[in-house]
Amino acid sequence: MRTKWEAKIAGTGHYVPEKVLTNSDLEKIVDTSDEWIRSMTGMVERRVASKDQASSDLAYEASIKAMEMAGVKGKDIGMVICGTVTPDHMFPTTACILQNKIGARGCPAFDMSAGCTGFIYGADIARQYVENGIADNILVVGVETLTKIINWKDRNTCVLFGDGAGAAIISRTQSTDISKIIDSEIMADGAFGDLLIMEAGGSRMPASEETVRENLHTIQMQGNKVFKHAVKSMALVCEKVLKRNNMDSHSIDWVVPHQANVRIIDSLAKRLKVDKDKVIINIEKYGNTSASTIPIAIDEAIRANKIRKGDIVLMTAFGAGLTYGAYLVRI
Ligand code: UT7
Repeated sequence: MRTKWEAKIAGTGHYVPEKVLTNSDLEKIVDTSDEWIRSMTGMVERRVASKDQASSDLAYEASIKAMEMAGVKGKDIGMVICGTVTPDHMFPTTACILQNKIGARGCPAFDMSAGCTGFIYGADIARQYVENGIADNILVVGVETLTKIINWKDRNTCVLFGDGAGAAIISRTQSTDISKIIDSEIMADGAFGDLLIMEAGGSRMPASEETVRENLHTIQMQGNKVFKHAVKSMALVCEKVLKRNNMDSHSIDWVVPHQANVRIIDSLAKRLKVDKDKVIINIEKYGNTSASTIPIAIDEAIRANKIRKGDIVLMTAFGAGLTYGAYLVRI
């Protein structure tokens, strides 16, 4: 579909909490080892939010940096989208709390619960609103405080996740601007929802003494089943987006994949026939920060002058739902 306007990523920012939790620290909590975690996931350490830090606090720090890079103020923001499965509260949304913190008023603000694909889902929606001329600047954030919903007795999950926030400003631009969002696609397979779930706390299983006792307010995951879907679904959506733009792996300068497991990233790169040195990986520093992994990775790479203006970047994620998506941009 031809649209009236072009959209681009005008600024990015990220924030991670100070506290570091290493693999060696985890060895003291559960029956695991630094060697197992490194070889099975690629993770070495992750960040942990403090007791008084909620998701909106992390999101605010990342958003301010993205707004500075884009040269926009709160009053210029036309929509706030917050990809998160660890909101401050069930309601109001973290996006509404964030809107108030950044000094935006009146614009729509909503959370996007799409698991680790939350940022890509939000960025896809932002692109539509900007391209259709409805908003000029949209703040899209991926933010998680997953360490607050972890069962620290479950070695299958507690070693994997960390906290952090990444943000992007999606803005209207001229057709003469080299930077633009080329295409994007979001998808889901609801039949696999039970593979990655927090069972209690919603209307299906309201909070009770029993749900707390049985740790049902924490992440439950069938890791190896999710693993298989991850590679397949990200490859499928990436190939779909590349094909309809007459592009292939040679057209891309960088792939920024969701950072869930370095073995998933390697398999994806192989499937897409992309050299490993074109793949942005920072999983060793932050673990899996769900919706935040992609905006954190892209912001780090832009600020390190690794990803430069004009580079073609393919972002892709998968997560609870199961959801998946791809986002193709020229920076
Ligand atoms: O962000 C989206 C959602 N998350 C993901 O994408 C995660 C996707 N899944 C994965 O990354 C991998 O499935 C894991 C890293 C979670 C696990 O790797 P795996 O190759 O699927 O291993 P497994 O679950 O089949 O477990 C292999 C063994 C088991 O022992 P036995 O039954 O073979 O004796 C586990 O009990 O590894 C054991 N194990 C551990 N050992 C030491 C599981 N967790 C640990 C641990 N330390 N932390």
